[in-house]
Amino acid sequence: MADAGPCLAIFRDCLTDMPWRIRNRGQYIILRRSLTPLNAWVAEEPDAGVIGFLTLQLPQDYVDHLFVDPDWRFCGVARGLLEVARQGATGALSLDVDAENLGARRAYEALGWQVVASTGSTSKARQMRLVSP
Ligand SMILES: CC(C)(COP(=O)(O)OP(=O)(O)OC[C@H]1O[C@@H](n2cnc3c(N)ncnc32)[C@H](O)[C@@H]1OP(=O)(O)O)[C@@H](O)C(=O)NCCC(=O)NCCS
Repeated sequence: MADAGPCLAIFRDCLTDMPWRIRNRGQYIILRRSLTPLNAWVAEEPDAGVIGFLTLQLPQDYVDHLFVDPDWRFCGVARGLLEVARQGATGALSLDVDAENLGARRAYEALGWQVVASTGSTSKARQMRLVSP
């Protein structure tokens, strides 16, 4: 996919704010595989280029990546990407968020997502499964 480079750069920037995440090459390989024209949406600004992206696993309607450039947060980018993905999905969307990722958890709460399950025994490994409205 043509926009893979900018998406990988945003992903790398975002991971620097997530010290609880274990860094490994595998997560970049997984992201590269998910970045196909059928599975990925990017948000672009004319002067800035790609400012955020979302990847969706079909047919599960599972959002496996949603990352917004730190300079473009709180501008409705995630909201817009999720709305577009919802239109391409067959039902409600779902995703897993790290329990330590308080910013993202607050964002999903503001967007009306609901917690349906929690996994992992240690706080670093704990994730919450959320579903969209
Ligand atoms: C979580 C993330 C995707 C949100 O993206 P965003 O484009 O800033 O979100 P939006 O601007 O669309 O905001 C949607 C709503 O969430 C709220 N929100 C967003 N980030 C928030 C935060 N850190 N704390 C509290 N509320 C937040 C917004 O105020 C908005 O609510 P409102 O419409 O009632 O005002 C972004 O912060 C990000 O990329 N974080 C790092 C990567 C990450 O954690 N991804 C999620 C992995 S599951």
